[in-house]
Amino acid sequence: MSKNILFLVGSLREGSFNYQMAKEVEGLLEGKAVVTYLDYKDVPVFNQDLETPVLASVAKVREEIQKADAIWIFSPVYNSAIPGPVKNLLDWASRVLDLTNPGGPSALQDKVVTVSSVASSWQEKVFPAYIDLLTFVRTKVVGEFTAAKVNPEAWGNGKLVLADELLAAL
Ligand SMILES: Cc1cc2nc3c(=O)[nH]c(=O)nc-3n(C[C@H](O)[C@H](O)[C@H](O)COP(=O)(O)O)c2cc1C
Repeated sequence: MSKNILFLVGSLREGSFNYQMAKEVEGLLEGKAVVTYLDYKDVPVFNQDLETPVLASVAKVREEIQKADAIWIFSPVYNSAIPGPVKNLLDWASRVLDLTNPGGPSALQDKVVTVSSVASSWQEKVFPAYIDLLTFVRTKVVGEFTAAKVNPEAWGNGKLVLADELLAAL
């Protein structure tokens, strides 16, 4: 049976290079896995006062995460760090499903997760932060994280070109 892989693209930008990489990877996974993209644009900035009752946008992303066998994060680097939208989403998803049971599982509990990053340069610098965060929220971090540099022409024409060797190594 095919695995369900949830793609979390850490850029909300139209034309995102990380989204373009996700689409390439989706093509490579054709016939091997079912890919879904997490739509989290309506999840608000985290605020504990908004946890109860559970917001529809939060319930939806939790459900998508729970349905997935694995999560593949495609993330830019913002100021040498995990982009705010991804951190915010992971903060929400890290909360226990039942707030009356503080030691209970979150939607992320034991989820297999890997990370790829397309950025201008130094994208590997964000990987240790991802490993810390993803381990802390009790996911199972797997794989060699992939770092791809934006090809210079892409800044002009908007089209990311990934090296064949990088795609072959995925
Ligand atoms: C606020 C901000 C900070 C950034 N900081 C970094 C950085 O520290 N290192 C880096 O390699 N790229 C940095 N970039 C460049 C982005 O990683 C690059 O534009 C990337 O293509 C954005 O991803 P996207 O195309 O998927 O939106 C930054 C971009 C923004 C908007």
